[in-house]
Amino acid sequence: MPDIVAGGIYMSAVKIIGKNKLDGSVRIQGCKNSVLPIIAASVVSGGRSVIHNCPRLSDVFSSIAILRDLGAKADLCGNTLTIDSSGVNSDTVRPELMSAMRSSVIFLGALLSRCGAACISMPGGCDIGARPIDIHLDAFSRLGVDVDSRGTSVCCSASNLHGGSVALPFPSVGATENIMLLSCVGRGVTTIYNAAKEPEIEDLQNFLNGMGARVFGAGSGVITIYAAKKLYDIEYTVMPDRIEAATFACAAAAAGGSVYMNPVVPEHISPVLNVLEGCGAKVVRYASSLLVVSDGMLNCAPFVATGPYPGFPTDAQSLVMSVMSVSHGSGVIVENIFENRLRHAYELCKMGADISVHGRRAVINGGELHGAHASACDLRSGAALAVAAFAADGETRIDKAEYINRGYDGFTEKFRSIGANIEGMNDDG
Ligand code: EPZ
Repeated sequence: MPDIVAGGIYMSAVKIIGKNKLDGSVRIQGCKNSVLPIIAASVVSGGRSVIHNCPRLSDVFSSIAILRDLGAKADLCGNTLTIDSSGVNSDTVRPELMSAMRSSVIFLGALLSRCGAACISMPGGCDIGARPIDIHLDAFSRLGVDVDSRGTSVCCSASNLHGGSVALPFPSVGATENIMLLSCVGRGVTTIYNAAKEPEIEDLQNFLNGMGARVFGAGSGVITIYAAKKLYDIEYTVMPDRIEAATFACAAAAAGGSVYMNPVVPEHISPVLNVLEGCGAKVVRYASSLLVVSDGMLNCAPFVATGPYPGFPTDAQSLVMSVMSVSHGSGVIVENIFENRLRHAYELCKMGADISVHGRRAVINGGELHGAHASACDLRSGAALAVAAFAADGETRIDKAEYINRGYDGFTEKFRSIGANIEGMNDDG
C-alpha cells in the first residue's frame, strides 16, 4: 500500500539490543480501537468528518482504502483525517479490502444505516482466534435485518429494520459498536443489554452524538439508541490509546528506567498498572498522564486473568507476560477472551523464557532473557517481544514486524527517543 511506504511507517523486522534503561517522555497516539469504528461511522452521515489525533497506522490506511473504494473522499494529513462520505455509491466492501484487517466488519452496520443494504466477506480469524461474527449477525436479525450468509460472504438488507432490545451473550466490543452504527439513524429505539463497556465504546458514542445521534449509556453495560432522522458534519478528537500507554508502561517496568506518558487516562488501564505496582514498579497516576519508574528488578505477578472491561485487557496480556518473564519468581496468566492468544509464549521461550502453556493458561517462571530471532504472532505480541528484548542481554530480531505497524504509530522512533537501541528494517534489510 503506497500510503504505508509513503507514510514511512512500513517495517518488516525490528532489531533491538537490550539492557538500555528507558528514560524520558513519550506522547501517546490517538486510540487505534477508537478511530477504526469512528472512521466507519463517518459513512453514516453522508457529510464531512474531520478527525483529529488520528494515528498513522496501517489499519487506518486500510480503512481509508475501504472508504475510497465505497466512493468517499478521505485524506490523512499529519494526524488529521478528513472524510467526505457524500459520494458513497456502493454498499459492498470488496474481499481483498476486508481481509486487510478484522475490524472491517464494523462497516456492516454503517453501510446498512447509510444504504439500507450491505455486503462484506467474513473478516476471518487471525492468530488469536476464530473471531466469528455470530453475535453481530444474531443481533442484527433481532432488529429486522435480513442476513444472508453464504460461504465467506455476508449480505444484509435493512428494509425491515426496526428498534428493539438485544441482549449480547458476551459483551463483544465489535458487536456493540456495529449495533450502535446500525441503529443510530432510522426509526425506533434500540437497547443493547450486556454491551461492552470499553472506553472506546464511549468514544464512539461521543462521536455519534457529535453528529446528531442520540446514544446513551456507553460504559454502563446498557446502551440505548434513539434513531435520528439524519446525522451531520463533525470535527472530533480521538481519545488516547490506552494499550499504547500500557506498552510503554510495561517496557519501562521490564527494562528499568523512568518513562512519562502523555496524554493517558490512567484509570483506563488500572488493572495493568496495579499488576506493575505489585511487581515493584513505581506508578504515578496524574489526571491525564502517567509516570512509571522501575529498577528493572521486579517480582513476578502471581496471577493475571484477562476479562472484558473493566477487567484486565486481553490486549495487554502478552505485554505483561514479557514483564513476568524477566521478573523474579513465578506466576500464572489465564487468557479468557481469545482462544489462541498465548502463542507468543513460544517466541519468548526462544529468548530463554521459562513458560509452559496449558490451554488458556500459561505458567511463567521468571529469569534472565537473551537476544534471539523471534516472530510476531499478532499486533500486541510483536510489541511484547520488543518489551522482552529491551530487558534481554544481546541482540533480538523480531520478524513479521508489519503486525506492529498495524497498531503503533512511530514505534521505533518513540522507543529510540527514550534510550532504546532499536531499529526498524524494511524488506530491503
Ligand atoms: C476488539 O476486537 C479489539 N479490536 C481487539 O483489539 C480487542 O482485543 C477486543 O475487542 C477485546 O477487547 C478493535 O477494536 C478493532 P470482541 P473484537 O468482539 O471486537 C468472541 C488489538 O490488538 N466473539 O469483543 O473483535 C471473539 O471470538 C485487537 O488491538 C464471538 O464469538 O473483540 C472473542 O473470543 C485484538 N462472536 C471475544 O468474543 C462474535 O460475533 C471478544 O471479541 C464476536 C466476538
